[in-house]
Amino acid sequence: MDAKPNVLVVDDLELNVSYLEEVIRPLNVNIITALSGKEALQKIRGIELALALIDVQMPEMDGLELASIINADRTRDLLPIIFVTAHAYNEFHLDKYYESGIIDFIIKPFQRSVLLSKIKILLELHRQKIRIRESERIYRTLLNASPEGIIIMDLNGEINEISEMTLKIFGITNKNEFIGKHIHCLFPPEEHTRLMEVMGRTRLDGLTQNIEFILTKADQSQFISEISMKLIQEEGQIPGAFMAIIRNISSRKKMEQQLIHTERLASLGEMAAGIAHEINQPLNTISLGLENLFIEIKKNKTIDEVYLLRKANKIFDNIARLDYIIDHIRTFSRSNDGDVLSNFNVNESIREGVSMISGQFVHKGIELIPHFDENIQPVLGNSYKLEQVIINLLINAKDALEEKQKYLKRDFQKIIEITSYQKENSIFIEVKDNGIGIKPDLLDKVIIPFYTTKEAGKGTGLGLSISFGIINEMNGNIDIKSEWSVGTMIQIMIPVVFKEGNESHE
Ligand SMILES: Nc1ncnc2c1ncn2[C@@H]1O[C@H](COP(=O)(O)OP(=O)(O)OP(=O)(O)O)[C@@H](O)[C@H]1O
Ligand SMILES: [Mg+2]
Repeated sequence: MDAKPNVLVVDDLELNVSYLEEVIRPLNVNIITALSGKEALQKIRGIELALALIDVQMPEMDGLELASIINADRTRDLLPIIFVTAHAYNEFHLDKYYESGIIDFIIKPFQRSVLLSKIKILLELHRQKIRIRESERIYRTLLNASPEGIIIMDLNGEINEISEMTLKIFGITNKNEFIGKHIHCLFPPEEHTRLMEVMGRTRLDGLTQNIEFILTKADQSQFISEISMKLIQEEGQIPGAFMAIIRNISSRKKMEQQLIHTERLASLGEMAAGIAHEINQPLNTISLGLENLFIEIKKNKTIDEVYLLRKANKIFDNIARLDYIIDHIRTFSRSNDGDVLSNFNVNESIREGVSMISGQFVHKGIELIPHFDENIQPVLGNSYKLEQVIINLLINAKDALEEKQKYLKRDFQKIIEITSYQKENSIFIEVKDNGIGIKPDLLDKVIIPFYTTKEAGKGTGLGLSISFGIINEMNGNIDIKSEWSVGTMIQIMIPVVFKEGNESHE
């Protein structure tokens, strides 16, 4: 890496060449010598030089011509040249000399130390040039190594640099077409306002992350991208530039959509199987009951009233069960549309829900401990629906406690705690029981429609999925934490929302 800098020495007199060589040897440089301009040009082909010492008067090609040829070569950097001459240089047309890169003259005979000082300065400048080039190389390697497209621009949006990945993402080949232009040129007009917003926000906050943009490739095809923008600011300095990072997320989006689609199909399948199973049972009972009645009538030509009533009751019970299932499915598929939304305090819904079933709890020896924070702010939704959620959670907790009693084969202190509180702008409701719990591998399953562990005819397996739907409509979330044989905690989060003209109908 740290190769010695090359210094070219040209003089038609071998003696002079040897002398110059001897003078500069202590500087730890690599000396390339030549006795004519022609030889010099041959020897330096493809070699990077730090500086040259050239004699003025030489036969065939003089020093000025050699200097002009070397510095006319656009493939190399401008070479600083010191002219070595026996003449007073003010005799020359100096402008011509300076134009060909001759920056200094040294007149023979000269003091070694003077020449050495001049060379040392030029060598230091060369070293600095190499260092800058190296750090630029590293910068460019990093820029192009990034798997994401990078664009560097000034604070007005004028593009300074574009990484190779950016070219690939946009399907463009010549980055120079874009350098110096406004970043708008890479964005379709309809995205310009948002782009300016992102730049404004980044200027204030320093960083804006993962904003989606629809962009257009050179071939006019569109793609979805995710853009992050960072303000580039050196310590203690005012910000100088923006760095935009661009990712093409079209395929990720497509996969996500496919996944959602697959999941939806899968849960539809499970749901259909569940519905079939749930409806089949009461239908079987109904047809069995009717069949029995037919057989009885055929056999005896008449029918016993008590028998008839018993069978009819059973049939009605099962029709009621079908009715209940269908009602549940309706709630499940119903969306918020048409609901009257109002502000309400979740404590009201919890109290209503608790009052519906607290009688059963007393009867079954379940202790219900409420912890309500009375200072919470209202949420927006349908309080009746939230009450349904609470009732389902309480019934689930009760069932889990009874299940644990069966499992332990002994009585134990059955406790359900129901808590409400506010944290920042969210209301939390927690229903915690010390029941049987949910096995870890079933945790994902419990919210699937019709998934139930309860005996036939007891649960439809819709409670939690309906609850999830209702809380989702309120822009909230449900979190389930459970440990097998220890207990379950269901946490509902609902954002605080104030509706203008509170409680009025829309
Ligand atoms: N608190 C809980 N403790 C233990 N298991 C629970 C609890 N809550 C729900 N589960 C499990 O999740 C399953 C699904 O609950 P979900 O409320 O959706 O349906 P379900 O209670 O079985 O029927 P229903 O439609 O009548 O509510 C339950 O069958 C049970 O296995
Ligand atoms: Mg339930």
